[in-house]
Amino acid sequence: MVWTSRPVKSLKGAVRAPGDKSCSHRALIFGGLAEGTSHFTGMLEGDDVLRTGAAMSALGADVKRLGGGAWEVTGVGTKGLSSPAGVLDFGNSGTGSRLMMGVMAGHALTAELTGDKSLCSRPMNRILTPLRQMGLKDTAGPDGRLPFSLTGSKNLQAITYAPPQASAQVKSAVLLAGLSANGTTIVEEAKPTRDHTERMLRGFGVDVGVERKPGEPTRISIKGGQTLRAIEAAIPGDPSSAAFLVAAGILSPASDVQVDGVMSNPTRSGFYDVANLMGAHLGAEEAGEAAGERQINIASGYAQLKGIHVPERYVAAMIDEFPILAVLAAFAEGETVVTGAEELRVKESDRIDATVAMLRANGVEAEGTPDGFIVQGCAGKVPGGGLVQTHHDHRIAMSALVMGTATQNPVRVDDISMIDTSYPDFLAHMATLGADISEG
Ligand code: S3P
Repeated sequence: MVWTSRPVKSLKGAVRAPGDKSCSHRALIFGGLAEGTSHFTGMLEGDDVLRTGAAMSALGADVKRLGGGAWEVTGVGTKGLSSPAGVLDFGNSGTGSRLMMGVMAGHALTAELTGDKSLCSRPMNRILTPLRQMGLKDTAGPDGRLPFSLTGSKNLQAITYAPPQASAQVKSAVLLAGLSANGTTIVEEAKPTRDHTERMLRGFGVDVGVERKPGEPTRISIKGGQTLRAIEAAIPGDPSSAAFLVAAGILSPASDVQVDGVMSNPTRSGFYDVANLMGAHLGAEEAGEAAGERQINIASGYAQLKGIHVPERYVAAMIDEFPILAVLAAFAEGETVVTGAEELRVKESDRIDATVAMLRANGVEAEGTPDGFIVQGCAGKVPGGGLVQTHHDHRIAMSALVMGTATQNPVRVDDISMIDTSYPDFLAHMATLGADISEG
């Protein structure tokens, strides 16, 4: 079903950021592995997270959704999960499926895993390769795509692993397998990626070592056989979802947008740093802590941006924000160049191709490169008028709808149903700010 976003004169209002997707997945997984009953508030209730909850429940944890973002999870202990009765369907979620592979690897269970068309096209060997070294058995073919089945083991062997990609999902899967392996598992991380697994496991009482030496990979270590203790935690707001509203504020003349309760963690803040480098004037006000993470309220108003070459050191900390960054680049003056972001080719869609096609369909000159893209900014006057193909990618859909609030002509999107995977309140929040988005 096609949806249309029409240009509006201004966007104004305050919205609370939805619960962070990465932290919500981890809360359900770690709660299910803990001893005792955990309580979480402010959870994201997008489809991706619901599927992780369903998977943990099928494996034996007691997972209850109490309503309004509150959840109660009674865990089974570190090696307490058992074979599920049916197939585990992770829908669109790379994070849910990959982290759960790491968890299941350390249990004496067999499970069949699947997902939607997008997930079944994404590479899983990046996870299976280290887990096989530790003792996982699986039926994945040479290209490692879902669906496949896997059999874990209570006798995994610890490894030292240096992932070839900068990936928090790979790091997390190996650390989670390491939690129930014999010995100490070490992940050597060349470029820092989001550190929620390390931080949240510590919150559950697990000893996670992090050793940083200048010029060397960070060594993250976890000794097998540790116990997780149940916790009570509020989930911080999602900086990746907030980025769409913040971008809408920057693009719209006479806007005044505030997004409250956004997690501020250096491994996630690349988009905000780069937007400021391009000329945005984002305000930040302290908003307390949640689950050991700093939170801020972000104020966003109109700014005429300038194109830049995005410094590669920001790439990992904004890996999910490149489609919306490309929208900012389209409105900027001059050229924006992204390099060092080849991981975008294996996200929910090939995000380099999908992002470039989104801009071109709306009259913006853009080209893809093997590891990024180049956008020629229109200095505020983006034609619009195009139909964007989302390729089942929520972040392409939201980026296109935000773009349409400030283009010269409406922007249409082929399907927006998958926005529910990460941000079910997106349309409601955009409507609160005064956006004109409707079906047809
Ligand atoms: C995530 C890690 C990132 C990110 C994804 C969430 C996580 O993927 O793109 O949306 O919660 O660990 P990679 O680690 O594969 O880059």
